[in-house]
Amino acid sequence: MKTHQLPNDAPYSDNQRAWLGGFFAGLHSQLVQNSSNAQTARTIHILYGSQTGTAESVARDAVKVAKAHGLNPVIKSMDEVDADALTKMETLLIVTSTYGEGEMPDNSQVLWSAVKADSMAKLENLQFTVLALGDTSYDLFCQAGIDWDNRLAELGAARLQTRIDCDVEYEEPAEKWINNVISELNPNSNDVTVNLTSVSLTPSVGDITVPSQYDRKNPFPAKLLVNRLLTTENSSKETRHYEISIAGSGLSYEAGDALCIVPTNCPDLVADILNAIECDGDEVIDGISLREALRTQFEIKTPSKELFNAIKERNQEILTEILESDYLWGRDTLDLLLENQNVAMDFYTRPKEFLALLKPLQHRAYSISSSGKANPETVHLTVASVRYNAFNRQHKGVCSTFLSDLTDENPPIRCFFTPNKVFRVPDNNDLPMIMVGPGTGIAPFRAFLQERQFRGAKGKNWLFFGDRNAETDFIYRDELEQMGKSGLLNRLDLAFSRDQEEKIYVQDKMREHGAELFAWLERGGYFFVCGDAYRMAKDVDKALHDVVKTHGEKSEQQAIDYVNQLKKDKRYVRDVY
Ligand SMILES: Cc1cc2nc3c(=O)[nH]c(=O)nc-3n(C[C@H](O)[C@H](O)[C@H](O)COP(=O)(O)OP(=O)(O)OC[C@H]3O[C@@H](n4cnc5c(N)ncnc54)[C@H](O)[C@@H]3O)c2cc1C
Ligand SMILES: NC(=O)c1ccc[n+]([C@@H]2O[C@H](COP(=O)([O-])OP(=O)(O)OC[C@H]3O[C@@H](n4cnc5c(N)ncnc54)[C@H](OP(=O)(O)O)[C@@H]3O)[C@@H](O)[C@H]2O)c1
Ligand SMILES: Cc1cc2nc3c(=O)[nH]c(=O)nc-3n(C[C@H](O)[C@H](O)[C@H](O)COP(=O)(O)O)c2cc1C
Repeated sequence: MKTHQLPNDAPYSDNQRAWLGGFFAGLHSQLVQNSSNAQTARTIHILYGSQTGTAESVARDAVKVAKAHGLNPVIKSMDEVDADALTKMETLLIVTSTYGEGEMPDNSQVLWSAVKADSMAKLENLQFTVLALGDTSYDLFCQAGIDWDNRLAELGAARLQTRIDCDVEYEEPAEKWINNVISELNPNSNDVTVNLTSVSLTPSVGDITVPSQYDRKNPFPAKLLVNRLLTTENSSKETRHYEISIAGSGLSYEAGDALCIVPTNCPDLVADILNAIECDGDEVIDGISLREALRTQFEIKTPSKELFNAIKERNQEILTEILESDYLWGRDTLDLLLENQNVAMDFYTRPKEFLALLKPLQHRAYSISSSGKANPETVHLTVASVRYNAFNRQHKGVCSTFLSDLTDENPPIRCFFTPNKVFRVPDNNDLPMIMVGPGTGIAPFRAFLQERQFRGAKGKNWLFFGDRNAETDFIYRDELEQMGKSGLLNRLDLAFSRDQEEKIYVQDKMREHGAELFAWLERGGYFFVCGDAYRMAKDVDKALHDVVKTHGEKSEQQAIDYVNQLKKDKRYVRDVY
């Protein structure tokens, strides 16, 4: 059995891309030449539903493995196919993430509506399998993948393999799934196992060396250059501007991408947790002290389902009447331990068991607020620090306060980029952009405006921004006013929600200026939304439909079709969280 080490499909530099392209083409043609059935390579369709690129990158890995096996993979984003196309497919691999509250990612919504409709044709000639990406900290874990799996079976399609549901550590199960599925599809060529996860600084493929790169597996140690408060001292919230140096990394980014930060936990929280489980922290577990493991390796703020269940098993009364999600809202791991001290003390002699109940500490993503062309050596972020009082304690978000407490004296910040290929300034510099970004949702639009300025783009720009109070929370005010004066920002509509009795939100401003908004869309305008996914993005979507209906003089269904077409054309795209 031959094992190749291939890098993960994270962003590569142009050189690396060219190199890898050449390498894979070579590997492919060698395998195809050797294959007796090269002329009749079996076609497999690979569809991805992805919001921020993870599912897409897994799907692309599947393509590489399929090619290495002499198959003919056809990869598409779910918004590039219609329901009719599914009826013509014979073999389908679906890779999908889940968004919102158990919903489809944006690029799958139109296809999914058609597939779940009663009128959908049967798919009795189709064989399929699903890889679902998700996060067990959400109530509806991997729901989008579950929905696809159930619906395709209902339509008569046959499962090639049972669905797999991947949590945040998806790489290994995904690699296994890809290799298993592809070997099953081409049993004659199972002498090639592609190892997609073992990425080192200079991974080797046979005797060839891949150029080094920084990515999720190998984050770049970046220097923090600026940590500045954007809201005023007397604001009810704290939003900060960060500038991080990527000089010397060889990395580059585009406006619309996100930077992921790998945080460490607050030492005070670690100390409080050690206290609660009555350990001193010096206990050594798998070669590392308990204190250091809690600080650097485990999620100790948001409680895992496993910890919650372990506590529930021992303390039945905890959940008699209230829903788990209601109970957990705002409670962190320390709250659970303090409220269930009999259980917490159980861990005293078994700290290893306690660690086994925690999830690995994850990076957090931040939409970049600078243009990579205008700022090739720095990345700007706009971050709201999560701080709140609950259950008689001050609670802090792990990563946002890890950042806010940093000074330039601290060790470097470990970070990597995640590209968002659809959330981009239009290639056509003449088309209008409408950007809706209240709160930290403004971040990518600052980047978009910098990008348009850098390009000398003539297309019109309209920003809807808002936050709680104008006096304290009008972040980047000077810059926006300057952009207004220079003619870069053609319209700025503001919604400060708490400056008056009645709440005023960005969607109210959209409705107020609906006629003009519709006119901009009709002129080929792009509609971008960034910020809160749960309330704002849903209400803005509703307002967009209303504007199209009212000012386009359309029926309910025509307005839905119009907005769906915007999505298909990638002229309505969102970066919501
Ligand atoms: C693609 C993407 C882009 C993003 N871009 C940005 C950005 O530009 N700027 C930005 O600030 N964030 C952004 N985020 C959000 C960011 O990734 C983090 O989720 C955020 O900073 C909180 O992380 P944390 O580690 O500080 O908090 P965590 O330790 O993860 O804690 C957050 C949790 O605390 C609880 N909580 C928070 N507030 C309250 C409250 N008032 N009452 C009770 N419980 C509460 C909730 O359970 C919440 O899930 C983005 C997210 C994604 C996915
Ligand atoms: N879990 C929470 O309770 C909570 C609260 C705030 C922020 N967050 C999270 O904290 C991070 C940063 O927050 P942020 O600074 O971007 O934004 P934010 O503080 O959530 O809100 C920014 C602005 O959006 C307004 N808003 C609230 N509901 C809205 C709706 N349905 N439609 C349109 N606007 C609405 C807010 O008004 P009002 O606040 O006056 O209603 C405020 O003026 C995000 O990850 C966000 O999800 C969570
Ligand atoms: C706003 C938001 C909502 C999410 N909702 C869910 C969910 O309901 N269920 C789930 O299992 N995962 C959920 N996730 C986790 C994503 O599915 C997971 O991070 C996935 O790997 C993202 O893949 P993508 O980059 O291809 O979109 C959510 C993530 C975000 C940022």
